[in-house]
Amino acid sequence: MKFFVDTGNLSEIEILQNAGLIDGVTTNPSLVLKVNRPIIELLKDICQITDGPVSAEVVASDYDGMMREGEALASIAPNIVVKLPLTLNGLRACRSFTDRGRMTNVTLCFSANQALLAAKAGATFISPFVGRLDDLNIDGMELISDIRRIYDNYAFKTQILVASVRTPNHIREAALLGADAATVPAATLLNLIDHPLTHKGIEAFDADWKKTGQTIV
Ligand code: G3P
Repeated sequence: MKFFVDTGNLSEIEILQNAGLIDGVTTNPSLVLKVNRPIIELLKDICQITDGPVSAEVVASDYDGMMREGEALASIAPNIVVKLPLTLNGLRACRSFTDRGRMTNVTLCFSANQALLAAKAGATFISPFVGRLDDLNIDGMELISDIRRIYDNYAFKTQILVASVRTPNHIREAALLGADAATVPAATLLNLIDHPLTHKGIEAFDADWKKTGQTIV
Protein backbone atom coordinates (compact mmCIF):
# COMPACT_ATOMS: atom_id res chain seq x y z
CA MET A 1 0.00 0.00 0.00
CA LYS A 2 1.35 3.41 -0.96
CA PHE A 3 1.30 6.27 1.54
CA PHE A 4 1.14 9.85 0.34
CA VAL A 5 1.34 12.78 2.71
CA ASP A 6 -1.47 15.29 2.20
CA THR A 7 0.34 18.57 2.81
CA GLY A 8 2.22 21.52 1.34
CA ASN A 9 4.47 21.75 4.38
CA LEU A 10 8.05 21.01 3.28
CA SER A 11 9.38 20.07 6.71
CA GLU A 12 6.57 17.52 7.20
CA ILE A 13 7.38 16.04 3.78
CA GLU A 14 11.11 15.93 4.58
CA ILE A 15 10.65 14.17 7.93
CA LEU A 16 8.43 11.47 6.43
CA GLN A 17 10.55 11.11 3.29
CA ASN A 18 13.77 10.71 5.33
CA ALA A 19 12.07 8.04 7.42
CA GLY A 20 11.09 6.18 4.23
CA LEU A 21 7.43 6.34 5.24
CA ILE A 22 5.95 7.99 2.16
CA ASP A 23 5.74 7.22 -1.54
CA GLY A 24 4.68 10.69 -2.65
CA VAL A 25 2.71 13.83 -1.84
CA THR A 26 -0.76 15.19 -2.56
CA THR A 27 -1.73 18.85 -2.49
CA ASN A 28 -4.92 20.81 -3.08
CA PRO A 29 -5.85 24.53 -3.17
CA SER A 30 -6.69 24.55 0.57
CA LEU A 31 -3.28 23.09 1.45
CA VAL A 32 -1.57 25.70 -0.78
CA LEU A 33 -3.48 28.43 1.07
CA LYS A 34 -2.33 26.96 4.40
CA VAL A 35 1.38 27.36 3.52
CA ASN A 36 0.70 30.62 1.65
CA ARG A 37 3.36 30.20 -1.08
CA PRO A 38 3.29 30.59 -4.90
CA ILE A 39 2.13 27.21 -6.19
CA ILE A 40 4.78 26.68 -8.87
CA GLU A 41 7.65 27.41 -6.45
CA LEU A 42 6.07 25.22 -3.81
CA LEU A 43 5.67 22.26 -6.20
CA LYS A 44 9.26 22.67 -7.44
CA ASP A 45 10.45 22.44 -3.82
CA ILE A 46 8.30 19.38 -3.13
CA CYS A 47 9.65 17.66 -6.26
CA GLN A 48 13.21 18.30 -5.00
CA ILE A 49 12.38 16.24 -1.89
CA THR A 50 10.57 13.34 -3.52
CA ASP A 51 10.58 11.72 -6.94
CA GLY A 52 7.36 9.86 -6.08
CA PRO A 53 4.02 11.06 -7.47
CA VAL A 54 3.17 14.65 -6.44
CA SER A 55 -0.48 15.55 -7.09
CA ALA A 56 -1.07 19.16 -8.17
CA GLU A 57 -4.63 20.36 -8.65
CA VAL A 58 -6.04 22.52 -11.44
CA VAL A 59 -8.56 25.21 -10.46
CA ALA A 60 -10.13 26.00 -13.86
CA SER A 61 -13.61 24.59 -14.42
CA ASP A 62 -13.57 24.65 -18.25
CA TYR A 63 -11.78 22.04 -20.36
CA ASP A 64 -9.33 24.42 -22.09
CA GLY A 65 -8.42 26.07 -18.80
CA MET A 66 -7.85 22.68 -17.16
CA MET A 67 -5.60 21.63 -20.05
CA ARG A 68 -3.56 24.86 -19.84
CA GLU A 69 -3.17 24.70 -16.06
CA GLY A 70 -2.50 20.96 -16.09
CA GLU A 71 0.25 21.32 -18.71
CA ALA A 72 1.84 24.17 -16.70
CA LEU A 73 1.81 22.02 -13.56
CA ALA A 74 3.02 18.88 -15.35
CA SER A 75 5.96 20.77 -16.88
CA ILE A 76 7.39 21.38 -13.36
CA ALA A 77 8.71 17.81 -13.03
CA PRO A 78 8.04 14.35 -14.51
CA ASN A 79 6.56 13.12 -11.21
CA ILE A 80 3.75 15.69 -11.15
CA VAL A 81 0.29 14.09 -11.25
CA VAL A 82 -2.38 16.38 -12.73
CA LYS A 83 -5.26 16.47 -10.25
CA LEU A 84 -8.68 17.09 -11.80
CA PRO A 85 -12.16 17.40 -10.30
CA LEU A 86 -14.80 14.78 -10.97
CA THR A 87 -16.85 16.81 -13.44
CA LEU A 88 -17.61 16.32 -17.13
CA ASN A 89 -14.76 18.68 -18.07
CA GLY A 90 -12.48 17.06 -15.49
CA LEU A 91 -13.11 13.61 -16.97
CA ARG A 92 -12.55 14.91 -20.51
CA ALA A 93 -9.27 16.53 -19.42
CA CYS A 94 -8.33 13.28 -17.65
CA ARG A 95 -8.73 11.35 -20.91
CA SER A 96 -6.64 13.96 -22.77
CA PHE A 97 -3.81 13.96 -20.19
CA THR A 98 -3.83 10.14 -20.07
CA ASP A 99 -3.59 10.01 -23.88
CA ARG A 100 -0.60 12.39 -23.66
CA GLY A 101 1.10 10.03 -21.20
CA ARG A 102 0.58 12.24 -18.13
CA MET A 103 -0.34 10.84 -14.71
CA THR A 104 -3.76 11.94 -13.43
CA ASN A 105 -5.61 11.97 -10.11
CA VAL A 106 -9.39 12.44 -10.30
CA THR A 107 -10.44 14.03 -7.04
CA LEU A 108 -13.62 14.79 -5.05
CA CYS A 109 -15.07 11.33 -5.70
CA PHE A 110 -18.05 10.46 -3.51
CA SER A 111 -19.74 7.57 -5.36
CA ALA A 112 -18.87 4.24 -6.95
CA ASN A 113 -20.34 5.40 -10.28
CA GLN A 114 -18.05 8.45 -10.27
CA ALA A 115 -15.10 6.12 -9.67
CA LEU A 116 -16.23 3.90 -12.55
CA LEU A 117 -16.27 6.92 -14.90
CA ALA A 118 -12.81 8.03 -13.75
CA ALA A 119 -11.43 4.56 -14.50
CA LYS A 120 -13.01 4.66 -17.96
CA ALA A 121 -11.37 8.08 -18.48
CA GLY A 122 -8.02 6.38 -17.81
CA ALA A 123 -7.26 8.02 -14.44
CA THR A 124 -4.01 6.90 -12.80
CA PHE A 125 -5.56 7.52 -9.36
CA ILE A 126 -9.11 8.00 -8.09
CA SER A 127 -9.48 9.92 -4.81
CA PRO A 128 -12.60 8.94 -2.86
CA PHE A 129 -13.03 11.25 0.18
CA VAL A 130 -13.95 8.94 3.06
CA GLY A 131 -13.86 11.48 5.92
CA ARG A 132 -16.26 13.87 4.22
CA LEU A 133 -18.73 11.00 3.65
CA ASP A 134 -18.41 9.96 7.30
CA ASP A 135 -19.18 13.60 8.21
CA LEU A 136 -22.58 13.10 6.52
CA ASN A 137 -23.14 9.83 8.34
CA ILE A 138 -22.47 7.83 5.13
CA ASP A 139 -19.94 5.02 5.51
CA GLY A 140 -16.84 6.14 3.58
CA MET A 141 -15.29 2.69 3.77
CA GLU A 142 -18.29 1.09 2.08
CA LEU A 143 -17.41 3.25 -0.93
CA ILE A 144 -13.82 1.94 -0.92
CA SER A 145 -15.12 -1.62 -0.79
CA ASP A 146 -17.51 -0.96 -3.72
CA ILE A 147 -14.80 0.68 -5.86
CA ARG A 148 -12.36 -2.18 -5.15
CA ARG A 149 -14.97 -4.70 -6.29
CA ILE A 150 -15.90 -2.76 -9.43
CA TYR A 151 -12.27 -2.17 -10.46
CA ASP A 152 -11.44 -5.84 -9.88
CA ASN A 153 -14.54 -6.96 -11.85
CA TYR A 154 -13.21 -5.21 -14.95
CA ALA A 155 -9.47 -5.29 -14.23
CA PHE A 156 -9.29 -1.48 -14.27
CA LYS A 157 -5.73 -0.30 -13.59
CA THR A 158 -6.81 2.97 -11.87
CA GLN A 159 -5.37 3.02 -8.35
CA ILE A 160 -7.68 3.69 -5.39
CA LEU A 161 -6.13 6.54 -3.41
CA VAL A 162 -8.15 6.91 -0.21
CA ALA A 163 -8.40 10.62 0.67
CA SER A 164 -9.92 12.76 3.40
CA VAL A 165 -8.37 10.33 5.85
CA ARG A 166 -8.93 11.50 9.41
CA THR A 167 -8.10 8.58 11.71
CA PRO A 168 -5.70 5.62 11.99
CA ASN A 169 -8.77 3.36 11.65
CA HIS A 170 -9.43 4.76 8.17
CA ILE A 171 -5.96 3.57 7.18
CA ARG A 172 -6.35 0.12 8.74
CA GLU A 173 -9.71 -0.41 7.05
CA ALA A 174 -8.46 0.91 3.70
CA ALA A 175 -5.54 -1.54 3.87
CA LEU A 176 -7.84 -4.45 4.78
CA LEU A 177 -10.06 -3.59 1.80
CA GLY A 178 -7.10 -3.59 -0.57
CA ALA A 179 -6.95 0.13 -1.40
CA ASP A 180 -3.83 0.85 -3.45
CA ALA A 181 -2.88 4.02 -1.59
CA ALA A 182 -3.97 6.51 1.04
CA THR A 183 -3.18 10.17 1.38
CA VAL A 184 -2.85 11.12 4.99
CA PRO A 185 -2.07 14.25 7.04
CA ALA A 186 1.46 14.06 8.53
CA ALA A 187 0.20 13.98 12.13
CA THR A 188 -2.12 11.02 11.40
CA LEU A 189 0.71 9.13 9.67
CA LEU A 190 3.03 9.70 12.64
CA ASN A 191 0.22 8.58 14.96
CA LEU A 192 0.36 5.11 13.40
CA ILE A 193 3.77 4.56 14.99
CA ASP A 194 2.70 5.05 18.59
CA HIS A 195 1.54 2.32 20.94
CA PRO A 196 1.65 2.63 24.74
CA LEU A 197 2.94 -0.95 25.08
CA THR A 198 5.87 -0.13 22.77
CA HIS A 199 6.87 2.78 25.02
CA LYS A 200 6.36 0.71 28.17
CA GLY A 201 8.44 -2.13 26.70
CA ILE A 202 11.31 0.23 25.80
CA GLU A 203 11.36 1.64 29.34
CA ALA A 204 11.51 -1.84 30.86
CA PHE A 205 14.29 -3.00 28.51
CA ASP A 206 16.26 0.20 29.18
CA ALA A 207 16.02 -0.32 32.95
CA ASP A 208 17.19 -3.95 32.72
CA TRP A 209 19.97 -3.07 30.30
CA LYS A 210 21.39 -0.49 32.71
CA LYS A 211 21.52 -3.22 35.37
CA THR A 212 23.71 -5.42 33.11
CA GLY A 213 26.41 -2.71 33.13
CA GLN A 214 27.16 -3.56 29.47
CA THR A 215 27.53 -1.42 26.33
CA ILE A 216 27.03 -2.69 22.77
CA VAL A 217 29.65 -0.44 21.16
O1 G3P B 1 -6.61 15.98 -0.46
C1 G3P B 1 -7.92 16.09 -0.16
C2 G3P B 1 -8.40 15.50 1.15
O2 G3P B 1 -7.53 14.59 1.68
C3 G3P B 1 -9.06 16.46 2.06
O3 G3P B 1 -9.30 15.99 3.35
O4 G3P B 1 -9.94 16.32 5.71
O5 G3P B 1 -10.24 18.22 4.07
O6 G3P B 1 -11.72 16.24 3.99
P1 G3P B 1 -10.36 16.73 4.32
